[in-house]
Amino acid sequence: MDVFRTAAELAGLDEWRAKAPLTLVPTMGALHAGHLSLVRSGIEHGPVVVSIFVNPTQFGPHEDLSSYPRDEAKDFAALAELGVKAVYAPQVAEMYGADVSASVEPGSRGIGLCSGDRPGHFSGVLTIVAKLFAQVKPDVAIFGRKDAQQCLVIDQMVAEMKLVVRLIDMPTVRDDDGLALSSRNLYLSATQRRQALCLSRALTAARQAIAGGERGVAQLRELISREMASADKVEYIEIRRVPNLEPLTAISREKVLLAVAARIGPARLIDNLVLDFAAGVGCDSHLLGSW
Ligand code: PAJ
Repeated sequence: MDVFRTAAELAGLDEWRAKAPLTLVPTMGALHAGHLSLVRSGIEHGPVVVSIFVNPTQFGPHEDLSSYPRDEAKDFAALAELGVKAVYAPQVAEMYGADVSASVEPGSRGIGLCSGDRPGHFSGVLTIVAKLFAQVKPDVAIFGRKDAQQCLVIDQMVAEMKLVVRLIDMPTVRDDDGLALSSRNLYLSATQRRQALCLSRALTAARQAIAGGERGVAQLRELISREMASADKVEYIEIRRVPNLEPLTAISREKVLLAVAARIGPARLIDNLVLDFAAGVGCDSHLLGSW
């Protein structure tokens, strides 16, 4: 597995790109089974490059940039074992240099949800993803549905800038008890981890209520809120139309995102469900594209 540290070294990917479509899986490292599921699905279809970069511009001033888990050696070993062709792991100076004045701002899909309590977050995400796309020049990029708004904001950027990259989203990988895998789960004590189950439990309860015929958004939000009462702080409970994230008062025949965010001890955790009513109640659905 090649390890590239600079954009100039990425010329080494030209050989792979000439032979088959090249897939990029962008990450911030501290890789878990969720990240690795994206990598595995890419490898089934051709050469994969994984980027590992803890992107400072997507963290707020009081967020966990300095404590964000980093374990490059372990990440490299896991990726090499899967058969990844190359890792791109640049330093901050390579991606931003002394000048961090140019940025990509999110469109309408970047309003609300995660941007409410993380202002500037999606600008940081889009800026780094645009830089990664420009440098790696992937044919395909894979993202996790766990970060649903991130998927939709990136999709809007790609569409509006007419970037030539195909986007694919993969389902959220969970622990056996339902907790969505996240690098930030490492911050949780055993008690907090149990507490964190309220996010997935709340979504499951909402899914069951919908399967039972509930369509009222206020009623569903109330149900989710009750289930999340054990969180230290609920950041948001949102039920929005996909892909443009318009608020809804009732669910009808459409694709819907149920998204929650909460603080559990030191961690800010998110989770969601994407339901496609056209495909049948309760069907998990893609936000971007599939293979
Ligand atoms: P990071 O949080 O490291 O996540 C990298 C990718 O893994 C994202 O596409 C994310 O949605 C996906 N992912 C995380 N947890 C997952 C899970 N439990 N199941 C499936 N996929 C999961 O998201 C970022 O990094 C950054 O914002 C990035 C896009 C790399 C830009 O800096």
